[in-house]
Amino acid sequence: MSETDERIISPDNINDGEEKLEQSIRPQRLTQYIGQTDIKNELGVYITAAKQREESLDHVLLYGPPGLGKTTLAMVIANELGVNIRTTSGPAIDKPGDLLSLLNELQPGDVLFIDEIHRLPKIVEEMLYSAMEDFFVDIIIGQGEGAHPVHFPLPPFTLIGATTQAGMLSAPLRDRFGIIEHMNYYNIADLEKIVQRTAKIFTIEIDDDGAKEVGLRSRGTPRVANRLLKRIRDFAQVANKDTVDLEIVRYALNLLKVDNLGLDDTDIKLLSTMIDYYNGGPVGLNTLAANIGEETETIAEMYEPYLLQIGMIKRTARGRMVTAKGYEHLGYSGDLAK
Ligand SMILES: Nc1ncnc2c1ncn2[C@@H]1O[C@H](COP(=O)(O)OP(=O)(O)OP(=O)(O)O)[C@@H](O)[C@H]1O
Ligand SMILES: [Mg+2]
Repeated sequence: MSETDERIISPDNINDGEEKLEQSIRPQRLTQYIGQTDIKNELGVYITAAKQREESLDHVLLYGPPGLGKTTLAMVIANELGVNIRTTSGPAIDKPGDLLSLLNELQPGDVLFIDEIHRLPKIVEEMLYSAMEDFFVDIIIGQGEGAHPVHFPLPPFTLIGATTQAGMLSAPLRDRFGIIEHMNYYNIADLEKIVQRTAKIFTIEIDDDGAKEVGLRSRGTPRVANRLLKRIRDFAQVANKDTVDLEIVRYALNLLKVDNLGLDDTDIKLLSTMIDYYNGGPVGLNTLAANIGEETETIAEMYEPYLLQIGMIKRTARGRMVTAKGYEHLGYSGDLAK
């Protein structure tokens, strides 16, 4: 496990220990799924229409930063359709035979969920084209002279693909999704509701100010909000507090080194490196990653999108630059910024 997985603010995927917790707090229906209103409304219509026509739902692509609820939404869609869902991920499907056995188990209308779909091997991806478009696959059975193509018809099914990196999806694959949804970071009000909902499941009392503060410091990400709440619960319990309030939230998050905007040590290191060593930028992502000892991918997927979102940095053709807001957040006077 990488160091990042342990980090409290990491919106990165869950580890095994968290699996049970995840299951208990995952919304099951669209009505329980908080925020992302446009996406929910749209999907609600498509789901109802598909059910009325007794057809499978068109294939759905969900993309956006980690921890925003893509896997959860895929499960919600299957629940709303009243069908089974099989889940797998791009890197887990090595060869066409693996995909075929997954497809083979589907009942008409079922959902096949492929997480990290941008990481499907090319040969598997190509097999998916006909499966998605016309519900069949042709594969070659046997070797040498005995090799022959076999045509497998498939039941109509819905493929739901999730990716944090839509740009890495090939055009032919992307074009085969009828429904493409871009998930955005959540606003504070929605995060507050998510915190309240999770608190109820945990049977924790949390007041409005406390929940709002957790929301403020969750980087727009439900997974982070839930994780912070879990830690805060421990602090409240040890401090003998019946209700989680603003004071205990601030106390816990300060100890956890999550600042008032939800930034952690790595974010701060990233910004201060840009300022101290590169005069605020522009600087390339690879250079930055090497400087602070992180994987480029981690910076690109987890840190940069949120720093961009809250306007701490901006992207230019020559690299990333710290904004005036970024300088100010680090305690530099605004006019130092270029
Ligand atoms: N809209 C929401 N309402 C309530 N809880 C949510 C919502 N979206 C996500 N969550 C919670 O946030 C956590 C993370 O969600 P999920 O695992 O679906 O994210 P993800 O986008 O699939 O992340 P990744 O890209 O890392 O796979 C889960 O515990 C889930 O219960
Ligand atoms: Mg997921």
